[in-house]
Amino acid sequence: MTAAAPSARPFANDVGDAFWLPFTAMRQFRANPMTFVAAEGMDYIAADGRRVLDAMAGLWCVNAGHAQPRIVAAIQEAAARLDFVSSFRMSHPAAFALAERLAQLAPEGLDHVFFTNSGSEAVDSALKIARAYHHARGEAGRTGLIGRAKGYHGMGFGGLSVGGIGRHKRDFGPLLPDVAHLRLPYDGSMAFSRGQPAHGAGYADELEALLQVVDPATVAAVIVEPVIGSGGVYPPPVGYLERLRAICSRHSILLVFDEVITGFGRLGRAFAAEALGVTPDIITCAKGMTNGAVPMGGVIVSRQVFDAFMAGPPEAIELFHGYTYSAHPLACAAGLATLDVYEEQGLFQRAAAMAPAWEEALHDLRGEPHVADIRSIGILGVVELTPRPGAAGARATACAQACHEAGVLVRASGDLIVLSPPLILAEEHVARIVGAIRTALRALD
Ligand SMILES: Cc1ncc(COP(=O)(O)O)c(C=O)c1O
Repeated sequence: MTAAAPSARPFANDVGDAFWLPFTAMRQFRANPMTFVAAEGMDYIAADGRRVLDAMAGLWCVNAGHAQPRIVAAIQEAAARLDFVSSFRMSHPAAFALAERLAQLAPEGLDHVFFTNSGSEAVDSALKIARAYHHARGEAGRTGLIGRAKGYHGMGFGGLSVGGIGRHKRDFGPLLPDVAHLRLPYDGSMAFSRGQPAHGAGYADELEALLQVVDPATVAAVIVEPVIGSGGVYPPPVGYLERLRAICSRHSILLVFDEVITGFGRLGRAFAAEALGVTPDIITCAKGMTNGAVPMGGVIVSRQVFDAFMAGPPEAIELFHGYTYSAHPLACAAGLATLDVYEEQGLFQRAAAMAPAWEEALHDLRGEPHVADIRSIGILGVVELTPRPGAAGARATACAQACHEAGVLVRASGDLIVLSPPLILAEEHVARIVGAIRTALRALD
């Protein structure tokens, strides 16, 4: 099936100058802007009608593939019926329905949902909820937060503070105090592991060691991505998350899983918590929650966390926090339709079924020129390249460019080729993605 590309002005370099793009080398982009005018299923479509296979699901978010008719129709219908209603002291039925559905999908015991508009807001909300939870229980001294090296938790000052990518912080002055970071639970001995590295659970004991130095009674929360995503796709060693869970419980510290990428089927289950068998106190999510079609994020909290807020006088606001667009009607409509699509098309199961073929195909790139490591889990993967001497990142950029010219969109990040295709992918898509990377690598110097 070929979708007609909507008519659009020719792009070439005619994109104007006003748009300041996020995370983009503006002057380089301007010289050769990449733009798309439509999308369908596994593909983006350029102004000249050329299709490009989207091996990133947009930006780790279009899990059900682009332009799912049911999601499109739900957004259109919602926009015409109820364009906006605040969630401050009022709401609308779809918000309650979506919260119920998310609570059903979340691990047992995580049953209340606070809505945000992005992953960054979900993370900052979760950090505030964690501190306020301890405050509500009479432990206002628990303000410390612990993140992890290579963690990515969005761009708010909270998420940036607990994040573990130094370059992201460098230009922005003092961040939150009382933040510590655990090491990346990964070393060279784990290179080319398939799925979770078999050893390395002991990295979690660093948390216990840190809590000998930092008074555990001053720590509010530990936040980790169950699988580090943007920082380079690092699945956790077998047993690592279990140990973090046990240490947090021992010290009454809340464990937050940032599932903005791993949520909604990436690991073959609704959440990585379920796929990996470890239940946190709080889950943050976004992206696949609405299939990327309308911005939305959420914080799913345990009953214990929620109940701690409900102990004061009933007329008092329990949480002085929220956003104008929390539970926006269009986002809720998109979210409900997205969950329907996941369920009706069995996409979480499909991801689980495709994962072995995905892993096999990716790891078949081992031995190709410049390949230093390959990591994968679920329908996530990364091919790490050896940097070109004196030009870090150049190889991955060149590889991504060559893939794009061959009709496959992959993401270059430093010396990584990052992959996170829609969960509707079939074996032919896997073959095209891996084939494009292989050809590109063989042509690289
Ligand atoms: C784990 C994680 N947390 C938070 C975020 C931030 O989400 P957003 O870009 O929607 O603010 C991201 C974005 O990639 C993410 O991967």
